Amino acid sequence: MSASDSPRSSGFFDSAYGETPPWDIGEAQPDLIALFNEYPPAGPVLDLGCGTGDLALALARRGLTVLGIDLAEAAIHQARAKAAAVADVGRLTEFRVGDALHPAQFPGPFGSVVDSGFFHLFGPLDRERLARDLAATLADGGRYYLVGFAFDSPMPNAPRQVREAELRALFTPEHGWRVLALRPARLLIRSAWLGSQEAGHKAATLAQAMAKTDDANALAGSAQGLAALAARGNDVPGIAACVERVPLG
Ligand SMILES: C[S@@+](CC[C@H](N)C(=O)[O-])C[C@H]1O[C@@H](n2cnc3c(N)ncnc32)[C@H](O)[C@@H]1O
Repeated sequence: MSASDSPRSSGFFDSAYGETPPWDIGEAQPDLIALFNEYPPAGPVLDLGCGTGDLALALARRGLTVLGIDLAEAAIHQARAKAAAVADVGRLTEFRVGDALHPAQFPGPFGSVVDSGFFHLFGPLDRERLARDLAATLADGGRYYLVGFAFDSPMPNAPRQVREAELRALFTPEHGWRVLALRPARLLIRSAWLGSQEAGHKAATLAQAMAKTDDANALAGSAQGLAALAARGNDVPGIAACVERVPLG
């Protein structure tokens, strides 16, 4: 297996889905939907780190077929259950447990790849590899849509800032990309819930899973990070992008 600079494991995400995790807001991120309205996606669609499937189902409601991939079995079970509950739309979706960091392994080409809080999980090496792989995943004219954190999360093992300059350096004309949109966005999370008293013990469990340790200092740091995130309210600074594949030469 090649080197990776991702600190997370499927174990962390599986335990996060034991509760409703803060990113699981029960709908697709509104700023991603805004991008779809401006730059309509084509099918078939690949959803990287699809979580419990709300984004995939929103795309299926537009008549697109969607393959959703997530490392966490618990998330995929929930996504399949949501799809089964809306059979006419759900039949356009397929959800699989898998590693979405190498999207070219899935049978394509895809008309669109969508990414709601996936890219921001990874370090620079994985991000660069992912961008290269996307080029082989999308059809000519296909689009990659992304929304991610625009700030470093105060928790250990949590999302790292996505910068405009970084995206412009990855998705260049020389590599066969055209940037259609790249702008500040809001990322909705359930952080106020994290700070609520009723949810206190669940937040502590999540802090423990994120810190991946029983060490008291690390746990205290993680809990403080959660509190700092909770203090921001229900939306955090994000970045949204839509880039398009253009044939080279
Ligand atoms: C921040 S959550 C976002 C989930 C979903 N896209 C949403 O907007 O609600 C990141 C998701 O990526 C998944 N994930 C992390 N690493 C992954 C990998 N290498 N391959 C597939 N999924 C992964 C996690 O299990 C988690 O569901």
